[in-house]
Amino acid sequence: MHITNAQNDIESILFSETQLRSRVAELGAQLTAEYADKHPIVVCILKGASFFYADLCRMMQCHISMDFIAVSSYGAGSQSSGVVRILKDLDTSITGRHVIIVEDIIDSGLTLKHLRELLSARKPASIKTVCLLDKHERHDPHIAADLCGFRIPDAFVVGYGLDYAGYYRNLPYIGVLKRAAYA
Ligand code: IMP
Repeated sequence: MHITNAQNDIESILFSETQLRSRVAELGAQLTAEYADKHPIVVCILKGASFFYADLCRMMQCHISMDFIAVSSYGAGSQSSGVVRILKDLDTSITGRHVIIVEDIIDSGLTLKHLRELLSARKPASIKTVCLLDKHERHDPHIAADLCGFRIPDAFVVGYGLDYAGYYRNLPYIGVLKRAAYA
């Protein structure tokens, strides 16, 4: 698939490259202040958070370690079951460490909730969850991330790491996918 064709499938741009850069810089500054002397492990949830994670880590002006985890949701259909299976675990122990989990988007919120519980069982010093996008109307407010880039309406979005059927991750902005592209 050529990138030009990918762009033709976008209904509207929700967040431009400039808007993403500026919000990620704000989040990075906030985390820098909070974790200045804590040497946190920043955990990327593959693959959707990859671009957000790479940009956020570069905006953190303090010592950090980087690690990666890949999960898949149990159950059939497009609805998240909230029970996650680890496809690729962290390489490092998080026991006694400050952990920042970086997620792309919260829909039902169940994936992040379950992952938080799973990693909490390893007895880290603290856990903070950070997500780029939050479909806040879709879930109980009690399971929101600790830190969020943007709240968005209930639409299917792609780009900046987010995919549909494995495509569109390489778009440099966040866009709403045309219904025709997945109908
Ligand atoms: P949750 O467990 O329902 O919160 O699902 C979160 C996961 O669903 C995210 O990590 C994404 O992989 C996927 N997801 C949810 N909404 C979208 C979307 O609009 N575009 C792309 N992926 C999405």
